[in-house]
Amino acid sequence: RPAPPCTFVVFGGGGDLTKRLLVPAIYNLACAGLLDDGFSIVAVDWAELSSDILRAQFHDALQEFVARRGTSATVLRDDIWQWLHTRVTYLRGSFEEAETYDWLAQRVGGGNAVFYLAVAARFFGPIVDNLGTSGLTEEADGAYRRVIVEKPFGHDLKSARELNTRLLGTLRERQIYRIDHYLGKETVQNIMALRFSNGFFEPLWNRQNIDHVQITAAETVGVEKRGRFYEGTGALRDMVPNHLMQLLAMTAMEAPVSFDADAVRDEKSKVLKAIHSLMPEDVVRGQYTAGALAGAPVRGYRDEPDVAPESRTETYVAMKLNIDNWRWAGVPFYLRTGKRLAVRKTEIAIHFRHAPYALFRDTPVERLTPNIMIMHIQPTEGVTMQFGAKIPGPTVRLGGVRMKFDYSEWFSEGPSTGYETLIYDCMTGDATLFQRADNIEAGWRAVQPVLDWCDRPEEAPLCSYAAGSAGPVEADALLARDGRHWLGLTA
Ligand code: BG6
Repeated sequence: RPAPPCTFVVFGGGGDLTKRLLVPAIYNLACAGLLDDGFSIVAVDWAELSSDILRAQFHDALQEFVARRGTSATVLRDDIWQWLHTRVTYLRGSFEEAETYDWLAQRVGGGNAVFYLAVAARFFGPIVDNLGTSGLTEEADGAYRRVIVEKPFGHDLKSARELNTRLLGTLRERQIYRIDHYLGKETVQNIMALRFSNGFFEPLWNRQNIDHVQITAAETVGVEKRGRFYEGTGALRDMVPNHLMQLLAMTAMEAPVSFDADAVRDEKSKVLKAIHSLMPEDVVRGQYTAGALAGAPVRGYRDEPDVAPESRTETYVAMKLNIDNWRWAGVPFYLRTGKRLAVRKTEIAIHFRHAPYALFRDTPVERLTPNIMIMHIQPTEGVTMQFGAKIPGPTVRLGGVRMKFDYSEWFSEGPSTGYETLIYDCMTGDATLFQRADNIEAGWRAVQPVLDWCDRPEEAPLCSYAAGSAGPVEADALLARDGRHWLGLTA
């Protein structure tokens, strides 16, 4: 069903995120017939652009997007573009001047509006204050007013709380849609479907049967053109309190009583709040040095543009977390994420306990193929089960085998940006896949001890790893200490 009519106002509408992700997502929604004729886009930015120039830029961005799709339609649908382009308006204006908001108030009138903050974090507060002062956040006569906030949501627990307080000074919680783009990924949403729509996983999903869990978000890219931003952020802030904590919450939360937004978000908050306070010895920070990827040499982090030659910013972080509740007591969750690693791979690996008894005398229990279920988030999308089987032949020999469900084999839907669901959900008022204030704060609270050590460098050593490797050896030691090892970082 199409979402109700809406003016979709994008602050930062001339920027990269809008062209690369938002406009393609809106195009996909239009193709799926999910936008009403009363839908329109207003892009607000400071650049010297006009509506015509912006439309041309959106057109180019869309052509690039559809060309990237590979197997499905690789040509931009003209009927959809004709429908969409007349609905795009550019407003050149400052995010901090009343004039911008007066214009918007006239344009939006009494209708529904989404205000999308695709801007640097320092503008979140001022924009919301201005929306409030100009009356744009008031919901009258059944019309809704919603604000989508991109990351980073705060820099630490304190600033995240302050930002929540500031936004909640103007908006009600139900009007705020805090984005974590990982929640837009099909494979991430599938974690809940897998766990809660099947009978056979959940009975095993606990400390009696699970030995440990590994969550990996490995990237091959470096910091690209974001050196300045990354210097003040680092891998921990950039990936852990948000994306990795969401993966952890999806994996570890209790079954919600319904798929109602608050029921799901209550369970996520509960499990995030149960994360045991981190100890320094459970964290490894690393920074990449020069190395090679796909046979080509790549420079070290400190030689990247806008990065200090003595930088102590981590580009890799690994940690061991414990969750203090009945389901997970004693089951470590190992998390790792980094840039310039050997492969691009995001996955969650559930390592089950060994069979209790060595029936096969030649193979001691600890040498049996580990039972692992891997949820592949990207770039491969699917689920793999690894277990032991008898190798055919007259003698009893055991070997590891894998059974795989691959999205692309089962489903024919074309790729999406991940933003389609999020935008549609916001327009229809479903906040399930957005983070509530307490979810955000729980994510920051879990990593705050590490952020505190990083302020005291002698307590937060920085290891190094060569670009193109599997990360610092110290991260291997983190698991070896517990008699475990990371799953290999291979394609
Ligand atoms: C962003 C981070 O939030 O997520 C980036 O700021 C990172 O540094 C990106 O590269 C990873 O997202 P994805 O969807 O490519 O896994």
